[in-house]
Amino acid sequence: MRTRVGIIGAGPAGLMLALMLHRRGIGCVIVERRDRAAIEATLRAGILEQSTVDLMAELGVGARLAREGVVHHGTILRFDGRNHRIDFTALAGGRVATLYPQHEVLKDLIAGVLARDGQIMFGAQVTGLTDLTTARPVIHFTAADGQAHTLDCEVVVGADGAYGAGRSAIPPGVRHEYQRAYPFGWFGILCEAPPSSEELIYTRHDRGFALISSRTPQVQRMYFQCDPNDSVDRWSDEAIWDELQVRVDGEDGLQLQRGPIFQKSILPMRSYVCEPMRFGRLFLAGDAAHTVPPTGAKGLNLAVRDVWELDRSLGAFFGAGADEALDSYSETALRRVWRVQHFSWWMTSMLHRMEGASPFDDRRQLAELELVTSSIPAATSLAQNYVGMPLGT
Ligand code: PHB
Repeated sequence: MRTRVGIIGAGPAGLMLALMLHRRGIGCVIVERRDRAAIEATLRAGILEQSTVDLMAELGVGARLAREGVVHHGTILRFDGRNHRIDFTALAGGRVATLYPQHEVLKDLIAGVLARDGQIMFGAQVTGLTDLTTARPVIHFTAADGQAHTLDCEVVVGADGAYGAGRSAIPPGVRHEYQRAYPFGWFGILCEAPPSSEELIYTRHDRGFALISSRTPQVQRMYFQCDPNDSVDRWSDEAIWDELQVRVDGEDGLQLQRGPIFQKSILPMRSYVCEPMRFGRLFLAGDAAHTVPPTGAKGLNLAVRDVWELDRSLGAFFGAGADEALDSYSETALRRVWRVQHFSWWMTSMLHRMEGASPFDDRRQLAELELVTSSIPAATSLAQNYVGMPLGT
């Protein structure tokens, strides 16, 4: 088999890139480890930046998102038992955040790629990447039927997540890794209940952070900061609801709408960057190159920014046949990656309770939240980063 661009991974990055390359008439093949049903069932955060929404519309896969996505004109920061609203519409030049779960995005992207006769090899396990520093890099994989294949490419894109073949194909001497593990996790639930709030609530409480989010009018998503080594089985539904309620209790009497919990899991929190995002003709995009903690819901949006940049480089490369077009991708992408790393870390540090925090730390954290919710320049910075800058900036 041969193609121009071999993409490993049918996640947001790989699928979005395939749609953009199709628009340019550049052939590509996606090699994906999982089957379609498993991908479409993967639960992740559900907030799309304005530019992600715009790009999906531009690529002709935004119809359902336009119908079913819920526009959020603001978000709530809650501390000292009171809501403080960040108004996106007023502060971020009319840009907004849209609630549309990641697995719905994936369904739309997969359908879009297949409708354009794009090739996705589901259930294909990559066994090796070779010739990466030549003009003919090769992806070796075992297909769903157990047969071994090679895919000869001109460019290989590793969009295969944190544990994929892409990242580990960059030799250790070339790869620089920057990381930080957080001493807490998020206990996440899905429940059948009406929404408790029209907008997301990010809460700072002395017992730790909590987030009130939503999936549909009937299904809600909530999280609370927990010990990353805790076990979900230790928590009854009632104990979970009590813990969530305590963290949002306040003088306004906010009451969470309770309902049966049908999914519980503990998410670890990590920040990670791999530099460079290139080795020869291999390019990394999305989680293959970086991880952000979920506070601020930047993971998918950052992956989309990577491939938007990569599509421009590949367009110039295949258009003019100029190798130099590929040189700027890693550096340009990494500037943005680090900006988003900072934002996600900052939101995390402002809202979570650190083990061993002193009374001084608590007061400093509250002062920061006061600033962000009362100073227009500070609120503007949060709003703009949350809804996301326009692509290419
Ligand atoms: C979610 O709905 O899963 C979600 C929303 C916002 C976040 C993180 C997760 O910052």
